[in-house]
Amino acid sequence: MGGYARARLACIVSDIALRTAQPSDLDSILRIERLVFSDPWSPESFAPEFTDSYSWFRVAEIDGEVAGYVVARIVAQQGEIANIAVHPSRHGTGLGGTLLDAAIVAAAAAECEAVWLEVRVSNAPAQRLYASRRFEEIGRRRNYYREPLEDALVLRRAGSSSASVPA
Ligand SMILES: CC(C)(COP(=O)(O)OP(=O)(O)OC[C@H]1O[C@@H](n2cnc3c(N)ncnc32)[C@H](O)[C@@H]1OP(=O)(O)O)[C@@H](O)C(=O)NCCC(=O)NCCS
Repeated sequence: MGGYARARLACIVSDIALRTAQPSDLDSILRIERLVFSDPWSPESFAPEFTDSYSWFRVAEIDGEVAGYVVARIVAQQGEIANIAVHPSRHGTGLGGTLLDAAIVAAAAAECEAVWLEVRVSNAPAQRLYASRRFEEIGRRRNYYREPLEDALVLRRAGSSSASVPA
């Protein structure tokens, strides 16, 4: 069995709990954030996401530890994935897909017409994940990211049907 298949199997047999993020999760979230992003969100960036009524902030816990998180915003029937990350030790195990699917289902429940996000042009793994969930490129923002300066692809997933989200 290859590394990817082994990692996926490990995820399947693990006990994953998706729950609303709490301020007490912030240290674990920041540890992951700083491991995976060259220009990480600050504690101040995360703070309003715990309380804002538009924010849909979930963590995935595996064996009692935060292994990933997703921050979505749902406003005026539009969903936005503002942040999504998985601890590097869990990459390729399906956890990012699980988090993204949950946000898509939440947007569908709120009758969103579409879900939007931005992704670095160089971020191939994330782009693979989004393509597998039927996100389509609809534009590009020049020099949107820092550290390093880079364009963002703007992706959109049309429709609010949760039925098409992979199990
Ligand atoms: C992007 C990210 C969240 C994806 O999380 P993940 O748990 O690794 O993703 P998954 O295991 O669910 O894989 C998603 C898809 O990518 C592909 N994939 C991921 N890792 C792979 C690997 N090592 N080999 C082959 N395919 C892989 C698979 O096709 C998979 O689709 P599937 O679930 O339909 O099979 C994760 O890589 C991450 O935290 N990256 C750093 C932060 C980041 O870039 N966030 C996004 C900013 S826009």
